[in-house]
Amino acid sequence: MVSSTLDIAEEILELKRAKKVILLAHHYQEAEIQAVADVIGDSLELARKAREAEGDVIAMCGVWFMAETAKILNPTRTVIVPDAGASCSLVEGCPPEPIREFRRRNPDYVLVSYINTSAEVKAESDIVCTSRNAVNIVNSIPAEKPILFLPDKNLGNYVKQQTGRENMKIWQGSCVVHNTFPARRLLDAKAAYPEAIVVAHPECPEAVLRHADFIGSTSAIIEYCGKSPAREFIVMTESGVQYSLERVNPAAKFHYVANENCNCSECPWMRLNTMEKLRDALLTLEPRVELEPALMERALRPIERMLAVK
Ligand code: 13P
Ligand code: SF4
Repeated sequence: MVSSTLDIAEEILELKRAKKVILLAHHYQEAEIQAVADVIGDSLELARKAREAEGDVIAMCGVWFMAETAKILNPTRTVIVPDAGASCSLVEGCPPEPIREFRRRNPDYVLVSYINTSAEVKAESDIVCTSRNAVNIVNSIPAEKPILFLPDKNLGNYVKQQTGRENMKIWQGSCVVHNTFPARRLLDAKAAYPEAIVVAHPECPEAVLRHADFIGSTSAIIEYCGKSPAREFIVMTESGVQYSLERVNPAAKFHYVANENCNCSECPWMRLNTMEKLRDALLTLEPRVELEPALMERALRPIERMLAVK
């Protein structure tokens, strides 16, 4: 018999209790997954929660690098992900070997890695950042130090512009979702909804960001819309944020702009996770993140440095 979503939700809640699981969900997960989560957050909040998680198991409903980060921060817990294929175009576009080569050739550079990187790349880095704290992280580095910011070119350009940092090289990676939002579709949406406030994730290209009234991480966008008196928004990020947006500002309308990649605004990697796969992962405690202790030790330092920056 095929179980209904309601039955699966019950099974998940029961398995969570029985196996002492904390279920962490990113805002880009489907609404049903967010509804059974203990914590919903952006990548910085999920990392913080993972570090302090008690119980036996962390179920990371997000993408693989988020689960790796959870494992590195809390190595004695079992960390599972519903779909082991849930990667990220930024991770895929930034293999560790060229980063090691850059380090060898440029020992004076400070490597600032977006959290959307593999454990191997984090291990080569000096400090990690997320979209929420990237400006603060770069500002925390002495002005005379040259920086390599990786791997997101749009976030890198945004941070460079916000910090006025001249000596900053930027890796040319991009997000398949945000980088393909066309500015012309945003302008069409602005014409259709002239009262709407535009909120955007900094992974969007500059041609989009220049039309934004607010730029921030997923949770920062949700907080901003929750506090805003506005009743109409154009949201330039993954449409999974709708789950929290409609809770923080129930009277508002939220419009999404389709990108040129999938003609939607959903992350193909995040959406590999489903309720069925989550239930199965809780049953078998697989797929599970396993990392070499030496690698975890090296990757932990730049993550801890990030968490120490206010
Ligand atoms: P946040 O840091 O806003 O959660 O972003 C993560 C991400 O993958 C954005 O595409
Ligand atoms: Fe990676 Fe983009 Fe998906 Fe975020 S939305 S996980 S940056 S591919």
